Amino acid sequence: MNNSKESQFSPTPSSGTQSTGTVALRWLGASLELLDQRLLPAQEQWLTLATASGVSQCIRDMVVRGAPAIGISAAYGVALAARQATASDWRAQIQEAIRDLAASRPTAVNLFWALQRMERVFVGCGTPSEALARLENEAVAIHQEDLAANLTMADYALEAMGFSAGAEGAAQVSVLTHCNTGALATGGYGTALGVIRRLHEKNLLKQVYADETRPWLQGSRLTAWELMRDGIPVTLNADGAAAAILAAGEVRWIIVGADRITANGDVANKIGTYSLAVLARHHKVGFMVVAPSTTVDMDLQSGADIPIEERDGIEVREIRGIPLAPEEVSVFNPVFDVTPASLIDVIVTEKGVVRNPDIIGMRNLFG
Ligand code: MRU
Repeated sequence: MNNSKESQFSPTPSSGTQSTGTVALRWLGASLELLDQRLLPAQEQWLTLATASGVSQCIRDMVVRGAPAIGISAAYGVALAARQATASDWRAQIQEAIRDLAASRPTAVNLFWALQRMERVFVGCGTPSEALARLENEAVAIHQEDLAANLTMADYALEAMGFSAGAEGAAQVSVLTHCNTGALATGGYGTALGVIRRLHEKNLLKQVYADETRPWLQGSRLTAWELMRDGIPVTLNADGAAAAILAAGEVRWIIVGADRITANGDVANKIGTYSLAVLARHHKVGFMVVAPSTTVDMDLQSGADIPIEERDGIEVREIRGIPLAPEEVSVFNPVFDVTPASLIDVIVTEKGVVRNPDIIGMRNLFG
């Protein structure tokens, strides 16, 4: 059975929102298209993937990145594996694809969550055609649910910031964000950037300060691009300027995403997030983490248990082949850090919010 027509999915979260429709991925039924985020903002080039190994390579190489988008892509990768699987050996082939996708990046738990969900469906399938149909449907559902979660989180976040449901154009706030958490990093709309979009839609936003986010520059290459496409007022700053921006007193909230949140409320996110949380506490600025519940890992007790990815030093030494440092210099390049729960004011998910997160607050919401 081929249900590819029914399964085509390219999210357009436009009803009630002002997004220009930026998306990171498009499911075409027989293939997955990924916007090559390595080339932004200079070029908008789409890659077409027809194999699970191709998707896995794209996750490793950061064609697609951002915790939820990685999970969604991996789910589609499993659906592609089902499409490729040959009759005799289909179970082993899909299982091998799941293993390969799981090895693509270590920190964002959304990847493992999505693969486990796909695997649960897969083990219940009796034939290759059943596997193809059900795995495609499951991947599309994961994609749709992520987009829906983003929209819900935006509502909860505004409430947590003290805006009533009908607040439009009341006191405007300036916020600072780090990395890219927008439509490019998710099923559409965004987590932290979704909150920022919602503030803008309700005329509650004065200014977004976007950290450039060394070394991969998700802030300057992706966040600034995404916000400018949607006409949202953004000022780009070097990461080191964040302290001076907070000292100036205009920013009321730092809003970031997450790659993994542990049972005690510790948060792994893009390297540099921890320093921002320290700065926020010093300057009495709110620190908000926005992530779908698929980012919560109640199996890990604390941030110390989170595997932190270290990437090649070339990402620090060079940019697009241009040397930024002596060729042989040794580099430390962890791409995530852990912010302790004690520095976080509120974690927002689509299931609700946890204020002053700790193990009790997390258990109350996530069991
Ligand atoms: O290395 P990346 O670009 O995948 O890291 C992305 C981040 O750290 C994001 O802040 C996080 O995944 C949240 S995305 C909604």
